[in-house]
Amino acid sequence: MQLAGKTALITGAARGIGRAFAEAYVNAGARVAVADINIDGARQSAAALGENAIAVAMDVTDQTSIDNAVTTTLAEFGHIDILVNNAALFTAAPIVEIERADYQRAFDINVAGTLFTMQAVARHMIERGKGGKIINMASQAGRRGEPLVAVYCATKAAVISLTQSAGLNLIRHGINVNAISPGVVDGEHWDGVDAFFAKYEDKAPGQKKQEVDAAVPYGRMGTPDDLTGMAVFLASDAANYIVAQTYNVDGGQWMS
Ligand SMILES: NC(=O)c1ccc[n+]([C@@H]2O[C@H](COP(=O)([O-])OP(=O)(O)OC[C@H]3O[C@@H](n4cnc5c(N)ncnc54)[C@H](O)[C@@H]3O)[C@@H](O)[C@H]2O)c1
Repeated sequence: MQLAGKTALITGAARGIGRAFAEAYVNAGARVAVADINIDGARQSAAALGENAIAVAMDVTDQTSIDNAVTTTLAEFGHIDILVNNAALFTAAPIVEIERADYQRAFDINVAGTLFTMQAVARHMIERGKGGKIINMASQAGRRGEPLVAVYCATKAAVISLTQSAGLNLIRHGINVNAISPGVVDGEHWDGVDAFFAKYEDKAPGQKKQEVDAAVPYGRMGTPDDLTGMAVFLASDAANYIVAQTYNVDGGQWMS
């Protein structure tokens, strides 16, 4: 029970990796706010996790919604010890086909959503004076560009950079900001990624997924559960001396 007595707010936790983190945190003794723009999905996930999880409606692109989600979580739990900025949008297109609206939406969710949710929760943590843990979801896509994935890669590079700056700025308040960089993780998200590559690389549905699966040094794509150990560790007191880092949890995909 590494997180006994702790409370967490996890964005984008209705499904996928965020949902797995919510379950892992509850199993580690925490109470969790399952926040998502998909409130029906958040309610289902929270209900499945039992009395230590609540569903919170949250659109990370909307400042009022961010503030309301923090207020709702505080009203329910009294304080927030852990924030996971997990909500994100994947998008892909060749450079000459990128649309400004698509670029804007991806940056609004992945970058501004991460920054301003971090800001709102950090203000609470500073006021409370007991520190906290903030974990941002980066990606191997943030480590280098990819020919068809310019915008998503740039948003995840920005998440790594924000993690460094916020980590250095907030550690004086006892708030550890770190990030997790997954490689390829199976689930609904990757079904969408596969569809993008089917369109742009003329692949059969499922083909890209098979190719990336075979290319992982570990021998297969990740699952959300492969990431929960790092998520619990970074949220725990065992990570108190870890500041502004991004950890690869990717089956050996990237070295840094
Ligand atoms: N799956 C992968 O292969 C992979 C690899 C590297 C990094 N990641 C990162 O891990 C995180 C989780 O990935 P996943 O595979 O579980 O994704 P996912 O698409 O399955 O889940 C994302 C969740 O975010 C929610 N969301 C979207 N827009 C939102 C908004 N504006 N406000 C609030 N919630 C919103 C969605 O409703 C969804 O529940 C993301 O940050 C993603 O970029 C995933």
